Amino acid sequence: MPSQPASPEPFPPDFLFGAATAAFQVEGSTEADGRGESIWDRLCRRPGHIKGADDGAEACDHYRRWPEDIRLMRGMGLEAYRFSIAWPRVIPAGTGAVNAKGLDFYDRLVDGLLAAGIKPFATLYHWDLPQPLEDAGGWPSRVVPDAFTAYAEAVVRRLGDRVDRWMTLNEIPVFTSHGYGNGLHAPGKILARKEQNLAVHHALLAHGRAVEAVRRFAKPGAQVGLVNNPLIGVPALETEAHAEAARKAVVRFNGYMLEPLCHGAYAPWWLEEQGADAPEVAEGDLAAIAAPCDFMGLNIYSGVFVEPSASPAGFRELPFPKGYPKLEMNWLKPMPQVIYWGCRMMREVYGARDLYVTENGCACVDERVEVDGETRVMDSDRVQWLRDHFAAAKRAVDEGLPLKGFFVWSLLDNFEWQEGYSKRFGLLHVDYRTQRRTWKDSARWYKIVIQGRKIV
Ligand code: FCB
Repeated sequence: MPSQPASPEPFPPDFLFGAATAAFQVEGSTEADGRGESIWDRLCRRPGHIKGADDGAEACDHYRRWPEDIRLMRGMGLEAYRFSIAWPRVIPAGTGAVNAKGLDFYDRLVDGLLAAGIKPFATLYHWDLPQPLEDAGGWPSRVVPDAFTAYAEAVVRRLGDRVDRWMTLNEIPVFTSHGYGNGLHAPGKILARKEQNLAVHHALLAHGRAVEAVRRFAKPGAQVGLVNNPLIGVPALETEAHAEAARKAVVRFNGYMLEPLCHGAYAPWWLEEQGADAPEVAEGDLAAIAAPCDFMGLNIYSGVFVEPSASPAGFRELPFPKGYPKLEMNWLKPMPQVIYWGCRMMREVYGARDLYVTENGCACVDERVEVDGETRVMDSDRVQWLRDHFAAAKRAVDEGLPLKGFFVWSLLDNFEWQEGYSKRFGLLHVDYRTQRRTWKDSARWYKIVIQGRKIV
């Protein structure tokens, strides 16, 4: 793995060191307190779909163990915690009655975080759509953004007096393409391009409606943004010509959703390509979608190397050589500078205001060992990954990019979607038989980094 030199200056005082999770991946208690069924509960029951036939019924038992988990966060010195709210807990049928008990859980969690001095960053949608809404057509149908408005309002009305950092939806490209394109993620459908484009359009619209809910119902000064996972073209060499090629690549790869989000219109080149598959756009949709945001959340794990080319596109994507290193997922190819370039591109090309790395981390083969009477997970691979990616974040900060924080994915080992519990991303190791949490060396490293506000 390439190593980035760590800059000697500390991170600025307003930079937040955090960790992230998502409801379905950690909570468990999927039938507690009136929670309804989500598309992920349903997909987990499809024979052969999830590795190990795993499901989210227990996960990390965070729904019941959150006080312990907050103590662990506090012990690590975390300054911020990114979690998501489960729509099926709040409005179990997707539309209609609000389930007070579902909201009570997040109420307690938020109070617990604030009491521990940890800033809550709440995501409204991290992929657990109520099943009845899928039955009514799912994201390709307008019923979902319409229902989402009421859901977002119910949550923000309840928590918006204390939560002042809101994230609308997590990774629209992933849940629309995997949910309705290749069928890997819930609801596990393989639909035509038109339906996928509609799913993206409705997800963008839901984002816009959530922005509006935060503006109306959260406390003054509350901030809101989308969490996106743009595919970043990384200049293969750091020359201006390569950077220009990378800018072109970023528009080409992400324009289908970032043009409407940031510039209020689908790009003519994209509409032309899609032809009859372009989504139907109702009056007012684009204005809602492009409502100004306070920040952009970036989930960035890897990218694509590009170089200039004389082709009309103006860039060439470099294939990954067969032996390129990777961690425990095929897509986890280390190129730490993607953090820097991702921030720079989102600022330069799409005018993002503040930026957060809302997810970065890696899956490793973590093993617990006894050393000098202590249980440890000696994950020097993850430590190395994180030092390199934090160093790239520091470079962004040093060059004046408005990067305000970094959330490690993840606080805990958890349910990694179709991979079940076979992939471990946590700073804390979870023994799924006993629910015991064990500090990995990466968690120990992170604690020291946060204490000194410097990469060690
Ligand atoms: C991201 C997801 C997150 C987690 C990580 C590994 O795409 O947002 O839930 O699964 O990947």
